[in-house]
Amino acid sequence: MDKKSFQDDLIEWFVKEQRELPWRKDQDPYKIWVSEIMLQQTKVNTVIPYFTRFMEEFPTIETLASADEDKVLKAWEGLGYYSRVRNLQSAVREVHQRYGGKVPDSPEEIASLKGVGPYTAGAILSIAYGKPEPAVDGNVMRVLSRILLISEDIARPASRKIFESAVKEIISHDHPSFFNQALMELGALICTPTSPSCLLCPVRDHCQAFHEGVQKELPIKTKK
Ligand code: ADE
Repeated sequence: MDKKSFQDDLIEWFVKEQRELPWRKDQDPYKIWVSEIMLQQTKVNTVIPYFTRFMEEFPTIETLASADEDKVLKAWEGLGYYSRVRNLQSAVREVHQRYGGKVPDSPEEIASLKGVGPYTAGAILSIAYGKPEPAVDGNVMRVLSRILLISEDIARPASRKIFESAVKEIISHDHPSFFNQALMELGALICTPTSPSCLLCPVRDHCQAFHEGVQKELPIKTKK
């Protein structure tokens, strides 16, 4: 593929068509972190009001670090998967104590935080810090399996690394934040699981699966 032209088409579309979401208003690493944890098992439209309320109650690392656990759990009530918020508060306390309240910007330090896996680490590093790091979740694997015609079984845990290597090859070094968010947004709006809207896709001309007519056969995903 022509990498530069792919990046340009993808990012131009994202800048024009992205949804206005509350965590896209600034690049505060704390807010990006909270949003990505909420979004892990929960849909965007459900997350929006929770995120807004959570930020009103706990606007900074300091406020969340010093908050009563009961209050924090209460703010999460209804989102489920409560280990997410327990880990989040424990990691935020570590950032407060060990890093003076500044979310670290190195891959090693950030990935060592409780509840921060490779996806969340990559999302924070790219969106908040502008680093060209992959942020690969299931949606991004679906999108990339089609564009790059990758037939790895995305249900295999080992596959994520293959997709991460692919992202490292093609990510924009000028706009890593837009690039990663554009892949997420494409997965949400266009390159959907069962009937992708290829005729509306901004990167159709770069998509190998569309070229071969196999977009509906990808990704390969065996039952877990
Ligand atoms: N899903 C996961 N992360 C997201 C983000 N930053 N924006 C929209 N959807 C997402």
